[in-house]
Amino acid sequence: MKDINRIIEQYIEKEIDLIQVLHNIQNKYNYLPREVLEYVSRALHIPLSKIYSIATFYAAFSLVPRGKHLCTVCMGTACHVRGAPAVLSRIEERLNIKSGETTPDNQFTLETVNCLGACALAPIVVIDGEYHGQTTVNKVDKLLEKYAKEDKG
Ligand code: FES
Repeated sequence: MKDINRIIEQYIEKEIDLIQVLHNIQNKYNYLPREVLEYVSRALHIPLSKIYSIATFYAAFSLVPRGKHLCTVCMGTACHVRGAPAVLSRIEERLNIKSGETTPDNQFTLETVNCLGACALAPIVVIDGEYHGQTTVNKVDKLLEKYAKEDKG
């Protein structure tokens, strides 16, 4: 909990807000572990219910473990019409998981969203915050390989 204490000290000394505290925890663990939230609640005298209401309001936070890479497939209307279902099935097949799941090696978490607001680029896949527009099944294969390769160094 040394790192968490440092995050808590920043909250007290530099008056950063609770959302920033949660972001720092999320960056460290890739999600918000319950025991860490309980610790923060006790240390800062903030009710756990308040922390949870923030944690569940923002999509950037996750209460369940996430993989190292977050892969998001847009399933909004424009992306759907231009082939997102095929792209999603291909990713599910390659990673051997369904949307909402994480690979057993914790490398990838897959999720879907309804419109990322950039429909001109449809269909869109976002990996670790990077937008990949006009995605095709072939492009997906290359992308997943690229991220997997980076991990091997
Ligand atoms: S529907 Fe995918 S970005 Fe709008």
